[in-house]
Amino acid sequence: MMMKQLLLSFSALLVFLHFTTILAQAPAKSPAQAPAAQAPVLPQAQAPALTQAQSPASSGPANVTAILEKAGKFSTLILLLKNTQVGEQINSQISNTYKGLTLFAPTDAAFSNLKSSTLNSLSDKQTLQLIQFHVLPTCISLSQFQAVSNPLHTVAGSSEQFPLNVTASSSNQVSISTGLVNATVTDNLYTDSQLAVYEVDKVLLPLQVFGPKSTAPAPTAPATPKQAPPTTITPVVTSSAMGLIRHAALSFGVAAIAAFSL
Ligand SMILES: *[C@@H]1O[C@H](CO)[C@@H](O)[C@H](O)[C@H]1NC(C)=O
Ligand SMILES: *[C@@H]1O[C@H](CO)[C@@H](O)[C@H](O)[C@H]1NC(C)=O
Ligand SMILES: *[C@@H]1O[C@H](CO)[C@@H](O)[C@H](O)[C@H]1NC(C)=O
Repeated sequence: MMMKQLLLSFSALLVFLHFTTILAQAPAKSPAQAPAAQAPVLPQAQAPALTQAQSPASSGPANVTAILEKAGKFSTLILLLKNTQVGEQINSQISNTYKGLTLFAPTDAAFSNLKSSTLNSLSDKQTLQLIQFHVLPTCISLSQFQAVSNPLHTVAGSSEQFPLNVTASSSNQVSISTGLVNATVTDNLYTDSQLAVYEVDKVLLPLQVFGPKSTAPAPTAPATPKQAPPTTITPVVTSSAMGLIRHAALSFGVAAIAAFSL
């Protein structure tokens, strides 16, 4: 039948393609020829991945800014969430992660209780860490706090670098300790399966940023790491990226055949 012949010649084409793939990959590992021939491949491979990662942010189930605006006493936090872009990250991540997120929201009164120099003296990176320290990478309901194991890790970093302790009494009185600050959850502003937002009466100051030893950041190391990767590594990475693309194309071809023969 025509169909069979078509399939056969298509299969032969695939075998041929695969063979040329192997041929094309072999010389790619020789560093001398590789960069010039393959340079255009990487940008093409990266472009679709980036657009894909950005697109799903549009319609999240919950909007953390709207939740805080509605409560009416979080204008400082809203501003900081906006300036550090953590608010956008929260909104896009709650629709993308199965674990959800928890936000501890200090009130405007909590922020105004800080010394005025506290926020002003922070670098952009430290401000980001301060805000990320208020976000847990899991959605934790009020009653679940009784079962968490401390210290918790926050979006700011590991529990060794940025430890945060949260304890709950049997009456759901939730206390938070950073080592510098003891705070209390004063309201449950929002909870669904992906996002929990709790009002807290103090700004949670991480030891890492505000602790006694952390005033001067470690001197920046000289630029040796930038020089370290030998140029020969690049072609190998490139060739495996190219191999991936070809294999993806091949699998697509095989899938097309399977669909065709049905
Ligand atoms: C979230 O809510 C704020 C304030 O109501 C609004 O300005 C913003 O556009 C909303 N964001 C999304 C992604 O809907
Ligand atoms: C947090 O909890 C851990 C484990 O219980 C404890 O070792 C640590 O001292 C606590 N830190 C603070 C600041 O409460
Ligand atoms: C936080 O609470 C603990 C235990 O009750 C206490 O030892 C510590 O001094 C408190 N820290 C601050 C900064 O209030």
